Amino acid sequence: MTYDDTIGRLPTPCYYYNLELLDATLKNVAEESSRYPGFHLHYAVKANANPVLLKRISSFGLGADCVSGNEVLRALECGFPAGKIVYAGVGKNDREIETALANDIFCFNSESLPEVEVINNIAGRMHKTARVALRVNPNVDANTHHYITTGIEENKFGIYLYDLERVIGAVQKLSHIELIGLHFHIGSQITDMNVFRSLCLKVNEIQEKLRRQGITFPHINFGGGLGIDYDRPYGEPIADFKSYFETFARFYEAPPLQQIHFEPGRAIVAHCGDLIAKVLYVKEGKKKKFVVLDAGMNDLLRPALYQAFHKIENIASDKPEEKYDVVGPICESSDCFGKDVLLNSVSRGDTIVIHSTGAYGEVMASQYNLRELPGTFYTG
Ligand code: LLP
Repeated sequence: MTYDDTIGRLPTPCYYYNLELLDATLKNVAEESSRYPGFHLHYAVKANANPVLLKRISSFGLGADCVSGNEVLRALECGFPAGKIVYAGVGKNDREIETALANDIFCFNSESLPEVEVINNIAGRMHKTARVALRVNPNVDANTHHYITTGIEENKFGIYLYDLERVIGAVQKLSHIELIGLHFHIGSQITDMNVFRSLCLKVNEIQEKLRRQGITFPHINFGGGLGIDYDRPYGEPIADFKSYFETFARFYEAPPLQQIHFEPGRAIVAHCGDLIAKVLYVKEGKKKKFVVLDAGMNDLLRPALYQAFHKIENIASDKPEEKYDVVGPICESSDCFGKDVLLNSVSRGDTIVIHSTGAYGEVMASQYNLRELPGTFYTG
């Protein structure tokens, strides 16, 4: 990708989205999944809920994976059909459940019996039947950052395996619930296909055990989690959807006619967005040089929260490279985008690009310090 000087003229800090790349990514994910009949995609809205992007994503026929009542409403506004919306989350409140039921979404992914009981009561009151998939914690380690791993027993997500049969039995007795499947999501930013292979094998085992007791489901949902290459934003900007779907097609033993659902978020949008910032000051320490940006951790939280790496580039300079700590203006030590980053020699006013921030960037921005929210601009 080459940057023209329009980027240098954008008011900063802002997110700059490449819609051409988004389209190419969507075309690729739709093609790769359509090789396998019965595969369905629900974009994880939490990764980026920007309406401009959501409208593009829905136009490629994907469904939506939502985690709040407001995400359900946003997805509907942006063209996702209710029949392709799934709604997950450890704790849905009554109003959110009513919103989802009133709009006849496809399925609730539910993580506990108490929540399914509440959905049952509300559905009864509204003269509806709620379709539910139970989120199971399969105890498979995603080998990713501990804040974004979700499928091992010591975290709060899903129904534990030892409890699954009891919960299924109890849910089957509820008169306003139709139990249609199981749901899994073991973590995010997973690039090792062996992790997904382990998930497939574990799900095969779980289903076989249930089948022997006469329990089968028409739907299975493997969640999201496919990672991207943060080190090389110019390398392969489209995630490896081919290997991802191949892994499930090869190792997952689907019962006849079962529909298989996926909820990719990051892999769809991460490379399509960059955070653009300007250099306020270059500050010389005793041993280090600091580049102070006009963007802070309120604009992009990932480095502060997960020590996440994003490639950083000075597009305004072709002078020899120097090492800098790239920091934001906020009074927190964690307001740092990268340490010892090699950048073409930096001056005040230079334009800095923080790459691959289309996922969990804009959507996690806040007004901490009463700062403005970052702007948004588009190309393609
Ligand atoms: N489905 C469920 C149930 C999820 O919890 C998530 C993400 C996804 C799908 C989408 O996962 P993806 O394909 O994007 O990996 N804020 C963190 C990531 C948190 C992910 C939480 N769950 C980050 O910036 O890395």
